[in-house]
Amino acid sequence: LQLTPFVDPLPLPEILRPSLQNGHHTLTLTMREIRAKVHRDVPLTRMWSYGPTALAPLVEARAGEPLQIRWVNDLPTKHFLPIDQSLHGCGPNIPEVRTIAHLHGAKVPSQDDGYPDDWFTPGHSRTCTYPFQQDATALWFHDHAMGINRLNTYAGLFGMLLLRDHVEDSLHLPSGKYEIPLILYDRDFSATGQLFYDVSGDPEHPWIPEFTADGVLINGKIRPFFEVEPRLYRFRLLNTANSRFFNLSLSNGQPLIQIGTDQGLLSSPVELHRLTLASAERADILIDFTHSAGQTLHLRTGAFDILELRVAKQAAAPASGIPKILRPIERIPESSATTTRTLTLHEYQDEAARPMVMLINRKHWHEPTTEKPKLNSTEIWEFVNLTEDTHPMHLHLVRFQILDRRPFDTDDYLVNKKLRFTAPAEPPAPNELGWKDTVQCPSGVITRIIVRFEGYTGKYLYHCHILEHEANDMMRPFEVIA
Ligand code: C2O
Ligand code: CU
Repeated sequence: LQLTPFVDPLPLPEILRPSLQNGHHTLTLTMREIRAKVHRDVPLTRMWSYGPTALAPLVEARAGEPLQIRWVNDLPTKHFLPIDQSLHGCGPNIPEVRTIAHLHGAKVPSQDDGYPDDWFTPGHSRTCTYPFQQDATALWFHDHAMGINRLNTYAGLFGMLLLRDHVEDSLHLPSGKYEIPLILYDRDFSATGQLFYDVSGDPEHPWIPEFTADGVLINGKIRPFFEVEPRLYRFRLLNTANSRFFNLSLSNGQPLIQIGTDQGLLSSPVELHRLTLASAERADILIDFTHSAGQTLHLRTGAFDILELRVAKQAAAPASGIPKILRPIERIPESSATTTRTLTLHEYQDEAARPMVMLINRKHWHEPTTEKPKLNSTEIWEFVNLTEDTHPMHLHLVRFQILDRRPFDTDDYLVNKKLRFTAPAEPPAPNELGWKDTVQCPSGVITRIIVRFEGYTGKYLYHCHILEHEANDMMRPFEVIA
């Protein structure tokens, strides 16, 4: 399907602010089936959404003000994407349509975190309270139902939540119509414009190890355009794709100025000519169009233009400058860690060298919990990547810092059970020096993070955020104990 690019304006989400009811901030998000135009020349596409359009409402909340969200499942009872009944949590006796929302990056008591087994079916709802004792950042919600969240997310169940606080306020960053969410993902479409999700050749086991599609969407449209003024803008980037990484840059060679990452502001702005966002990662960036008045430029991934930016000749309102200092970030000293956990990442193949299953420490999801950090303790987790892929590893509940990455010989490790490093450890890139909740773990590298298990005791999980990997079976529980 060859589609003319840049014919649809970039959709902007409806902003949803919680209402105050008996002293509680509350709101309701309803999952439903909708029909949406993804492009001028594509017929209506069936999708699922947390709102009335393909782009879920953008929730705005304040740090320190607990928010109650009522998640309502108004979906049909039949799924329209291919379920693999052989995966964890699936089977003929389990309802096809089941959902549980997880607020990615939120520090939440276990019962409201969206545990994969806590799913509910159409006609039901669940109310969760988010305390928001955490810094301002872009969080996002997506489905996490056991065995099918990659399909539910692909169908459209995701959205963004912006958490604000006074530190952010004091910086006078571009706001209102100068602060723009950009939710990036990819989808394939059939000739009639319906969502298409590829399956393997094996009808007993339709799972595929990765899914990347030709159609790149931003905020619900394929390759849209956006009109800007020649001034400073703030863009809140989020990658919600199942598997795809975005390698972002601007066509005119101008830098992206990153001011924040997954869990909030960096300590100072970082200029980048390329920004790689893995699934679930966020980047808070500034782009200055002041010197591009009257020009057209593009945001691209690799060499592929995905968003056309049309710069007007004049700005309506001047922007304040880029703050030099954003938010102090204290590095967690390595010496404060009481435990180091080694977590190996594996891919197993069948006789035809097709990936069959991906595991952490050779363990499946349903095996007993082995990671039990103590509340308020600090630990180092090292991800030993024995596969050919980069895995974006995500931990629920916590925020963490990246310590370093160090290449090693995977054959020696697997065959001779010897850890032999092949190069010195590399510190994180400047734009990774903030608080993270998802970390890119490259192939043949040990990636080390340092985590303080703060907030709550209870059961949580960690997993690769490539949704196909997570489903089979690169996901494990952890439990914070008293
Ligand atoms: Cu986006 Cu288990 O998370
Ligand atoms: Cu992975």
